[in-house]
Amino acid sequence: MPGQFQSVQGFNDVLYPDVTKFNRIENTVRELFSLYNFKEIRTPIIEKTGLFVRSIGGSTDIVEKEMYTFKDKGEESLTLRPEGTASAVRAYLEHDIDKKDAVQKWFYIGPMFRHERPQKGRFRQFYQAGIEVFGIDDPVIDAEVIGLAKDVIDALSIKGVVIRLNSIGCPACRPDYIRELKLFLYGVKDQLCDDCQRRIETNPLRVLDCKKHGCIGTTKNAPKITEHLCADCASHFDSVKHGLDLLKIQYTIDTRLVRGLDYYTKTVFEFTVDTNNAQNAVIAGGRYDYLVELLGGGHVPAVGFAMGMERIADLLKLPDERNPDVFIAVLVPRARSKAFELMGMLRQNGIMCDTTYGEKTIKSMMRRAGKLKARVVMIIGEDELEHGYVTLKRMADAHQDKVKESEVLNHILKNSI
Ligand code: HAM
Repeated sequence: MPGQFQSVQGFNDVLYPDVTKFNRIENTVRELFSLYNFKEIRTPIIEKTGLFVRSIGGSTDIVEKEMYTFKDKGEESLTLRPEGTASAVRAYLEHDIDKKDAVQKWFYIGPMFRHERPQKGRFRQFYQAGIEVFGIDDPVIDAEVIGLAKDVIDALSIKGVVIRLNSIGCPACRPDYIRELKLFLYGVKDQLCDDCQRRIETNPLRVLDCKKHGCIGTTKNAPKITEHLCADCASHFDSVKHGLDLLKIQYTIDTRLVRGLDYYTKTVFEFTVDTNNAQNAVIAGGRYDYLVELLGGGHVPAVGFAMGMERIADLLKLPDERNPDVFIAVLVPRARSKAFELMGMLRQNGIMCDTTYGEKTIKSMMRRAGKLKARVVMIIGEDELEHGYVTLKRMADAHQDKVKESEVLNHILKNSI
C-alpha cells in the first residue's frame, strides 16, 4: 500500500541495489578525473535565474520550457540548476580565478533539475558528473577531454557506445552559415514540424537536431556547417580529429549534431548508445570559448562534458553483490550478549556479519539466513553457552562443526567451513 505521499513526478528515490551502481560510477569518475588532474568543485543547486538565461540561451528548450524557476521570499527569481557549466563559470569569475590562475581543470558530481516530460532515461531530477577545463585553447585538450570520457565508459565496461563529433564554428563563421541554413529552411518550411518552423527564426541550428522523422528527411540536404568553417575553426577541428586518431579513439562525424545549449563553439560531441528510446546520449559536451566573456570575464576558452549518471547506471552490469559471511542465530535471549561480542570481533577482522532480531524459532532464523545468502550460520544456544563453543553450519551443504569460541575467527578465516 503506498503511504499518504508519493515523490514528485520525475523525482526518484535511488534504492539498493541501484545506489550501488551510482557509487560505482562515482568512485570510477573520481579516480579517473583525478588521474587527469581535475579538482572537485561543489556549487549550490540554486542560482539566480539570469545566469542560466544568459549562458544557456533564451531560445533553448531548457530556458524556454524546462527550468524550475521561482521567486523566493525576497521576490528574487531563482532557478534550480538545469546543468553545471553555467555555475562553474559563475564560480570561476566570482572567485577571480581567471586573474589568479586562469588554467583550471574542474569536476563536479551532483543533481540537476529540468522540467521535462519524464520517460525512460529522462527525469526531472537527474545526476551529472561533469568536467570543465578553463584557459586552454589548444585542440589537444578537446581530444584529451573526449579521451577521458571514453576512459570512464571503458572502465565501467559499457559496450556499444558511439562517439559523435562535430564543429559548430565560432562567431566569425557561424553567422554566414546560419544565413545560408535559414535560406534553405525557408525553402522547405511547409514540410517542417511546428516547433521547427518557429525555430527557423529563434534557433535555426536546432532544426538539424529535431528527432521527428519528417524533419530529418526534409533537412537531409541542408548545408553542412563543416563546409562553412573559417580557417581557424577548420584547423582546430582537424587537430581534434588528429588527436583522437593518436589516442586511437573511433568517432563518427555527425554534421547534424548541434547540441541544445547556445554557449558552444567549435568542437561538440555526444556519446550515444543505440537503444530503442530517443534518450540515448550518455555523455555530451564541447567547447565554449565565449561563455566566460559573456558572463563578464575576459577571453577564457573552455571545454567540458557532463554524463547522465542514471543513463550510465542503466547500462552498468554490477559484479555479484557481497553477502554476509556469517549469520548469528541466537537461540536463547541469554546468548544475545555473546552474539554481540562475537559479531564485533568478526567485523573488526573484516568478516561481514548479520544476526537475528525478531525471529523466534531456529527455523525462521535459518530462513532469514538463507534470504540474506549468508555462507555460514553461527548457532549459539544453551549448550553452546554452557560449554564455551559455537555451532557453525555451512549453508551450502548443511555441514556442521562445533568450534571453541577462541577458534571461531581462525576457523572462518581459513575457510575451514
Ligand atoms: P546536456 O547535453 O544538456 O549537457 O546534458 C549532459 C548529459 O546529461 C546528457 O547527455 C544526459 O546523459 C544527461 N541528461 C540531460 N538531461 C537529462 C534528463 N532530463 N534526465 C536524465 N539525464 C539527463 C550539459 O548539461 C552540459 N552542461 C555539458 C557540458 C559540460 N558541456 C560543457 N561542459
